[in-house]
Amino acid sequence: MRDLIDVQRGKQSARMFHDPEIYEREMEAIFGRCWLFLTHESAIPNFGDFVTTRMGQDEVIVVRQKDGSIKAFLNVCRHRGARICPVEAGNKRSFVCNYHGWSYAVDGSLSAVPFEKELYQGKLDRETHGLKEVAQVSIYHGFVFGNFDAGAISLEDYLGDARWYLDIWMEASGGVELVGPPSRSVVHCNWKAPCENFVGDAYHVGWTHASSLAVSGSMLAPMSGNAALPPAGAGIQVASRYGHGHGILYDVHPGGHDAKLGEEMLAWQATKRVAMEEKYGAIRTRYYGSHINGAIFPNVSYLWGTNLFKTWQPLGPNETECWTWAIVEKDMPDELKRKIVNGMHRTFGVAGYWEADDNDNMESASLLTTGFQTRKLQLNAQMGIGKDIVDSELPGVVGQAAIGETSYRGYYRFYDEVMRSASWGDMDPSDDSWKEQLVSADV
Ligand code: FES
Ligand SMILES: [Fe+2]
Repeated sequence: MRDLIDVQRGKQSARMFHDPEIYEREMEAIFGRCWLFLTHESAIPNFGDFVTTRMGQDEVIVVRQKDGSIKAFLNVCRHRGARICPVEAGNKRSFVCNYHGWSYAVDGSLSAVPFEKELYQGKLDRETHGLKEVAQVSIYHGFVFGNFDAGAISLEDYLGDARWYLDIWMEASGGVELVGPPSRSVVHCNWKAPCENFVGDAYHVGWTHASSLAVSGSMLAPMSGNAALPPAGAGIQVASRYGHGHGILYDVHPGGHDAKLGEEMLAWQATKRVAMEEKYGAIRTRYYGSHINGAIFPNVSYLWGTNLFKTWQPLGPNETECWTWAIVEKDMPDELKRKIVNGMHRTFGVAGYWEADDNDNMESASLLTTGFQTRKLQLNAQMGIGKDIVDSELPGVVGQAAIGETSYRGYYRFYDEVMRSASWGDMDPSDDSWKEQLVSADV
């Protein structure tokens, strides 16, 4: 592990995209310990409403309880381990296993066993055979997260510095909804390849997406083919304590990469800006009307302004399932919501033309590490290194340009910390040295 991530010089070993032992460690140390996105509250409003999803490679059921709370359980029967719930979403009063018919209540308790008296003669301990519950479930502005580790810090603390940026669209906007059900596709790549891209890669946009930009005619179109670099002061990048990251391109709202829709969205936003500025200040109001790329460590990606929200579910070192929702503001007119959902799927859905641009890179950067010599290489995330600062107004560590790799470095700094820690007890939340670590990094 010590050789995997070089925080000081902004480099990472290519092994991290391939090595099965590293992948196993990630399942334990990252997916077994960090807060993982489960669903949005609006997907399960009523008692018995449920969705099935994944936490790492473990399948879980997320279900609304009678008292309005939300619980999550492994989607696994405690008899012989068959899947309890085979569908993506619905409403149930009990979950019945397809194999031998054991039945579980919505609160996870084992409620009925066929011929229990006759076949088990009173020796089956129902109490210890309820569904295995996810240790913690917590909600942030409607976004439901789960954590397998009872000793993990709270979700609010985990989001930490990044909340200041997340709140711009999750709260100050008046609240958002995720429009699902999520589209799903399998990408033959390591799960970190797309996550690092979304955490902070504005560099690839003008080049990878050159054709897409050119045909879109959106506010970002001038970047096509790297014809123009965003001018000085056009944006920033931000790294956070627990690996979350953001990139902000000021005053750009590409509107699903459709010029007309971009104008409509800006007009909609204009109706809220005065009130927002009073409550949240000028900087955050400006960010509301800006394009934001972001990641919540480990595997949530989003684009505010392109209105997508994704999770990258690992299925193995070189296989990842991508789930995609559209983000809309709750109080938008239905017609505007519909246009945004269509625009998002046209660009970043399963068959989205931007998605296809990206996936080619995700797959090659991952699959080439099956080469024995390739694996020995170091990957470079040094752009802007030595220029990161702590800003008095902006939380986190800030890279002072629209294009740079500050948040890559922040993502892998925490990746390194969590992978090498034995437990949350080793990661002191009051320890601020992570900032110095990033600011002092240099070649
Ligand atoms: S495996 Fe579920 S009832 Fe037997
Ligand atoms: Fe991209």
